[in-house]
Amino acid sequence: MDFKKMRQDFPTLRPDDAPAYLDNACVTLKPDSVVEAIHDYYTKTPGCGGRSVHRYGSKISQSTSQTRTKLQKFLNAESAKEIVFTRNATHSLNQVAHGMQWSKGDIVLTTDREHNSNLVPWLQLEQERGIDHRVVESNPDNTFNLEAFEQACADAGSKLKMVSMSQVGNLDGIKIPVKKIARIAHDHGALICVDGAQSTPHMNVDVQDLDIDFLAFSIHKMCGPSGMGGLWGRYDLLENLRTIQSGGQTVKTSTYDSIEWANPPNRFEGGLGNFSGMIATGAAIDYLSKLDMDAVHQHEIRLNSIMTDGIKDLPGIEIIGPLDANKRGGICSILMDELPAHDIALLLDEAAGVMVRSGQHCVHSWFNSKGHANGSLRASAYLYNTEDEARLFAETFSEAVHAFS
Ligand SMILES: Cc1ncc(COP(=O)(O)O)c(C=O)c1O
Repeated sequence: MDFKKMRQDFPTLRPDDAPAYLDNACVTLKPDSVVEAIHDYYTKTPGCGGRSVHRYGSKISQSTSQTRTKLQKFLNAESAKEIVFTRNATHSLNQVAHGMQWSKGDIVLTTDREHNSNLVPWLQLEQERGIDHRVVESNPDNTFNLEAFEQACADAGSKLKMVSMSQVGNLDGIKIPVKKIARIAHDHGALICVDGAQSTPHMNVDVQDLDIDFLAFSIHKMCGPSGMGGLWGRYDLLENLRTIQSGGQTVKTSTYDSIEWANPPNRFEGGLGNFSGMIATGAAIDYLSKLDMDAVHQHEIRLNSIMTDGIKDLPGIEIIGPLDANKRGGICSILMDELPAHDIALLLDEAAGVMVRSGQHCVHSWFNSKGHANGSLRASAYLYNTEDEARLFAETFSEAVHAFS
């Protein structure tokens, strides 16, 4: 695949002096086709899908249902009815957590390196509903500790109800063995919810092959529009899930004192939807579907190796996770306790046009538990980044570290 040529598809990358955008774990850039889809909605058919039968309405109903089918194929889901449009992965995870029936003492397992979106909903349920949220500690190098997980499942016994884990961590890019984890969770009679926010943009995710129960994902990290995410769930589970936003669209009918719920996915899509976002999601999925996702993943690892090799021996810094970039995908997250991460991030942008993220990346729990109050500086690559950009990051970051040391 010609990744350099693909840069031409992205308006922000076309100028010769385009910055080196290395904050893709936060949000990715959008190709022309996605921007055009948004523009077309507002300029050509700005109607409401699923309700009005006039030409705008029927066009939007048709386009949004096509997007659902595209997502179904992209994730190899059994049916398009299993795809729910949400605002973001956070919304999807909340729909699962707050949509299930819980009894006091039900156990939920997460890892110790979850984004707040896959931690706080469980903590909230612990406070409000008395579930028992337990954390599976990672190995010292932050990789998944399968033995600790098996032990946690055994300790939980029949109380284990849910295993909810990010397939790839936004903290460090480390991937966990979801298929094995799913098998073990199911052996214990529990469900598995996968936070795919950092996996679906970068690798093939086949929900049937993984044999999981729910998958939350962020369209805005997949070249798609902001304000769009998705939830995939096994249909029989969705059928038994309570909606966290009831109202228009969520019922077949209602009387003054009764509700007849709509079937999934409509039951979860209360209120007028983000139609331009749904249609542009279709364009984003078209874009990603043409790519060889294994090649995308390898490309990101190559860029991460360049970044890693260029900075790993600097004084006062430590890369989170194994040094081998193969184990961290496109994410290079750097601890620098004595150095000002935010100042360095600002300097990289101002001096060299290198855009990275600094802080705790919504994984406060991990940083708090390890005593790294400063957080980290994170560079995250995607398909349109180049080896020159990876080298520029390594060089300018090295200069900044020397300047601040
Ligand atoms: C691993 C992970 N989970 C969840 C989220 C939340 O995603 P969203 O912004 O789509 O709600 C993110 C966002 O960075 C993430 O990286």
